[in-house]
Amino acid sequence: MAPVALPILPSIKDTVAPKKDTLGLPEAARKRFEKAGIDLSAGYPYRPAKPIYLDDVYNVRDHDRPFTDPGSRADPAKKALLSAATEVIHLTAHIGTEIKGLQLKDLTDQQKDELGLLIAERSVVFFRDQEITPQEQKKLGEWFGEIEVHPQAPSVPGVPGTTVIWPALQATEVAPNFRNPGGASRWHTDLVHERQPAGVTHLFNDTIPSIGGDTLWASGYAAYEKLSPGFRKLIDGKEAVYRSAHPYLDRNNPTAGPKYIERVHPLVRAHPATGWKALWVNRAMTVRIAGLDKAESDLILGYLYDVYERNVDIQVRFKWTQNTSALWDNRITIHNASWDYEGNEPRHGTRVTALAEKPYFDEKAPTRRQALGIAGPDE
Ligand SMILES: [Fe+2]
Repeated sequence: MAPVALPILPSIKDTVAPKKDTLGLPEAARKRFEKAGIDLSAGYPYRPAKPIYLDDVYNVRDHDRPFTDPGSRADPAKKALLSAATEVIHLTAHIGTEIKGLQLKDLTDQQKDELGLLIAERSVVFFRDQEITPQEQKKLGEWFGEIEVHPQAPSVPGVPGTTVIWPALQATEVAPNFRNPGGASRWHTDLVHERQPAGVTHLFNDTIPSIGGDTLWASGYAAYEKLSPGFRKLIDGKEAVYRSAHPYLDRNNPTAGPKYIERVHPLVRAHPATGWKALWVNRAMTVRIAGLDKAESDLILGYLYDVYERNVDIQVRFKWTQNTSALWDNRITIHNASWDYEGNEPRHGTRVTALAEKPYFDEKAPTRRQALGIAGPDE
């Protein structure tokens, strides 16, 4: 099938700082790509041919692959990483840490393992003022697992697996508005429908609006801990159906309309590096709890989403600055990108996602608070 015609930038040379309604590649991104030797002559970004049929997409990575979490082999003290930093700032008590004084592209193997553990413990870790090419970003991502190459998401030309996160581009397909900001502006986590779903995602933003455009993350460890021990027993070991963000068609019944990739995974999972239990649901892509009637499943899932999304003490809201990296673990978080800038200024970045293990439930796994010795008597 021929690639779907999509807007191609007229000429990269002619682009200036983008104005509203002008889809020019932001200057900072262009400079970064030119320095990295990215060939922009055929347009930007690269768009793979869009797959139509469900079975073709089901066959992508539909087999077990070995996975070892780098955080599981790290020194728990994480001295190589933390002592090399000039500052380590915990942004909230339960989630989010900012590290200063380090360049991600220069981390040693030991530091990368320790970063894996820090992400597993703190859920999301930030590094400002990074100098990192798309190629280096991909290389770092490979340390955390097999890089996801999306069947239809736009990517940096010549660097498969570096997904372009550019709301202005997305808006050319589905126009957002204040009341329906769409896309990433709702609570979700990435790539839950994969056989081995996403682990660490690294989003590097080279261009951010002067006001707004924050991203929020919530902790899946803490969402689980918000549940009473009795309620935890109800959902422990249960499985749910998770679906893809993108729709496809059934080859044998294309007129039946859009269908999604669906896979069954545990509702509560254990993290292989920390060993802690986390709630693993998200409102955007969890279809139903397996084995329950729809009404029962809707009721329980609705409650779980509320717990996850509404407790501000288990969330971090991050204000980006240009050239900042966020590395988060999709196994233990949901996230939400605020579209309060309403497209009036550009926001642009590249994302690399490492796929992790097949999700598993471990009855004996502790909660984070139990493991850290901070759980109260009724926890
Ligand atoms: Fe996302």
